[in-house]
Amino acid sequence: MKSLILVTGAAGFIGSVVVEELSRRGKTILALDALLGGLYPSEEKRNRFSALASLPGVTTIESDLRTMDLSELPGTVTHIINEAAMPGLSLSWSDFDLYSSCNISGLSRLLEASRSWPLEKFVQISTSSVYGSHAVGDETQSLLPVSPYGVTKLAAENLAFAYWRESGIPVSVLRYFSVYGPGQRPDMAYRKFITLADRGLPVTLLGSGKQSRTNTFITDCVAATIAALELATPGEVYNISGSEQRTISEALEIIEDLVGKPLKIERKDSARGDQFETRGDSTRARSTLGLTDSVTLETGLEREVQWLQSLR
Ligand SMILES: NC(=O)c1ccc[n+]([C@@H]2O[C@H](COP(=O)([O-])OP(=O)(O)OC[C@H]3O[C@@H](n4cnc5c(N)ncnc54)[C@H](O)[C@@H]3O)[C@@H](O)[C@H]2O)c1
Repeated sequence: MKSLILVTGAAGFIGSVVVEELSRRGKTILALDALLGGLYPSEEKRNRFSALASLPGVTTIESDLRTMDLSELPGTVTHIINEAAMPGLSLSWSDFDLYSSCNISGLSRLLEASRSWPLEKFVQISTSSVYGSHAVGDETQSLLPVSPYGVTKLAAENLAFAYWRESGIPVSVLRYFSVYGPGQRPDMAYRKFITLADRGLPVTLLGSGKQSRTNTFITDCVAATIAALELATPGEVYNISGSEQRTISEALEIIEDLVGKPLKIERKDSARGDQFETRGDSTRARSTLGLTDSVTLETGLEREVQWLQSLR
């Protein structure tokens, strides 16, 4: 049977690159997104979505998983990559309904609809936030989220696996760790730092700067996600993480060098629900999905700086 891949959240930072890469590989894709505002302006999503519509093999569908009639989608979907979600920490404290409805209720409607499709793989996208403030180790570490966002994403994993156990929907979960690079969301730290530094404006640093991350470069994340369509085992979880652990202060020094202007840093208290340390062990994704680290943080941030400067 010819494959038909449904990518949700297709107008988002990561989903749009997934769709571009699948199109480049000659696949047939339904690219679905509600173009939601709230976290960042929907105009950025609309621009990406319009660009996707002209790619070979891509059909775009502007619809909301929470309300759309899913029976109107072709009943021949063979693979799903569910990127659709409300990400970000701070808004999840003040608008929990938005997070629970998009991250859990929307998913439940999609899972229910997919029971009648000839599904070979359902790739549910999750996050290191399900581990909590210290996301250190492999997939067996404790699941102790410290934000409403993390709680909704953990509930989503559990819901998807319930459908695997009860209905045989072939669900695999990918837990992304801090994805960055060209196209990064405007609410994410590196993009904010670069944008402000480039304009000579003060950069707000939340917390001590000693928080550390294993960042994942966008193209590495996307390649592993697409590999999961064929290679991930149903019922299994995979950490998708870079291996180079760097502090926020180190990232700021790199950005200062790349932008070529001295940084003005304003310090504030840590963000509520922020992770203190992430150090994902992705041994499983490296051996099964071929996850690689294609660039250092210096090179990855340089590409993000070049991309942002090209938008000026
Ligand atoms: N960016 C990261 O570093 C990171 C890290 C860990 C996990 N994730 C996960 O990766 C996925 C993609 O994140 P992103 O950074 O590209 O975010 P994004 O906000 O750019 O993309 C998510 C997209 O989902 C869409 N969406 C949300 N609710 C929807 C609904 N009800 N119906 C249809 N579309 C809906 C939004 O409009 C948006 O375009 C999310 O599941 C997120 O939780 C991202």
